[in-house]
Amino acid sequence: MDLVNWDVKYQTGNATVDTQHKELFRMVNGLHHAIVEGHGKDAMGPTLDKLGKYVVEHFQTEEKLMAAKKYPGYPTHKAIHEDLTKKAVDLIEKFHAGKLALSITVSQFLGDWVKHHIQDEDIKMIKWVQEHN
Ligand SMILES: [Fe+2]
Repeated sequence: MDLVNWDVKYQTGNATVDTQHKELFRMVNGLHHAIVEGHGKDAMGPTLDKLGKYVVEHFQTEEKLMAAKKYPGYPTHKAIHEDLTKKAVDLIEKFHAGKLALSITVSQFLGDWVKHHIQDEDIKMIKWVQEHN
C-alpha cells in the first residue's frame, strides 16, 4: 500500500509544480516500499540519493518562480525549503556513513512534510503568483 496518495487537494494549478509534486509522491512511496520490504543498503542508497536530488531540483523550480514574481513570502518559503534540505542532507550523510538505519519513521516524516508543505505553503504561493501575473 502506498504511503501518500495524490489528491486534487494537493493541486496548486501550476502544471510544472504539480508534475514535480506528483513525482515526489511517487518517489516517497518508492522509498517507503523499499524500507517496508527491507531493501539492503546497496539498493536503498541510490533510491535515497535520487529523492534527495529531486527535492533540491524541485525547490529550485519553486524558488526561481517566487524570485521572478517577487513573491512577498519568498524568504519564509525559502527558509522552510532550506530547513528540510539540511535535514535531508544530514539524514543521507548519516545513512551512507552507516550511522542511521532507515525505518518507516523516515518515509512517514517525508510524506507528512510534503503533504503539509504543499497545502500550507505551495498552494498559497502559486495562488499569489497566478493573481499577480
Ligand atoms: Fe515549496
